[in-house]
Amino acid sequence: MSTAVAATPAAAVTNGEEKTRHQEVGHKSLLQSDALYQYILETSVYPREPPAMKELRDITAKHPWNLMTTSADEGQFLSMLLKLIGAKNTMEIGVYTGYSLLATALALPEDGKILAMDVNRENYELGLPVIQKAGVAHKIDFREGPALPLLDQLVEDPSFHGSYDFIFVDADKDNYLNYHKRILDLVKVGGVIGYDNTLWNGSVVAPPDAPMRKYVRYYRDFVLELNKALAADERIEICQLPVGDGITLCRRVK
Ligand SMILES: C[S@@+](CC[C@H](N)C(=O)[O-])C[C@H]1O[C@@H](n2cnc3c(N)ncnc32)[C@H](O)[C@@H]1O
Repeated sequence: MSTAVAATPAAAVTNGEEKTRHQEVGHKSLLQSDALYQYILETSVYPREPPAMKELRDITAKHPWNLMTTSADEGQFLSMLLKLIGAKNTMEIGVYTGYSLLATALALPEDGKILAMDVNRENYELGLPVIQKAGVAHKIDFREGPALPLLDQLVEDPSFHGSYDFIFVDADKDNYLNYHKRILDLVKVGGVIGYDNTLWNGSVVAPPDAPMRKYVRYYRDFVLELNKALAADERIEICQLPVGDGITLCRRVK
């Protein structure tokens, strides 16, 4: 999930002091200022964004839940990462309208595969025509429904063990640890899991009594617990990146 989509105009100057929305818990960008984030988007991200991804981003911007979409800079990051690791067989938990899914599909080779899961097919279908037009729909196997039971099915079948090069987790934060227990068997040794929103609007460092949106407060403890668990898990190496709302990369080592 991005927190950068609904970004407001860059930093405003009031009484000689720079005021940015970053002072507010629940703000989306984790950078020093909105202006800096805008600079990244305008200088490095938008000029290189594939037209299909821009089209999907524009469609998603009109949707009432657009706050959920992966941001353009994170999409670019995922694309680069997938190419760097030579990913071919991937999984995505949490699709929404498909921005990260399209970034993945475009980055994979022609015979690449993405097993994509979401409880909501309707939102996926908003983006599907763009994905089809981009010529990458054949790489996607979309499954509607809660991810956990499907993961349980995959784990039961040893042929899926160690079969994924990359797994992106961007769905219900209260289940991330349950996902972790399962997908660690499914990703190959040397493969990568990306957990999205691991800095959770910056709320991970907010005092418990700080003003927070309800959903931010609700999921905060789950994110804190996940971050601790990932840091202590010797089966993975981790790297916490302040891209988007924070993404933690986990490389399976055993
Ligand atoms: C933050 S959005 C995903 C954003 C997406 N990666 C993108 O690039 O736009 C989270 C998605 O997780 C889905 N979701 C929530 N609970 C789920 C569950 N238990 N299993 C599968 N998907 C779930 C929601 O329907 C929602 O579309």
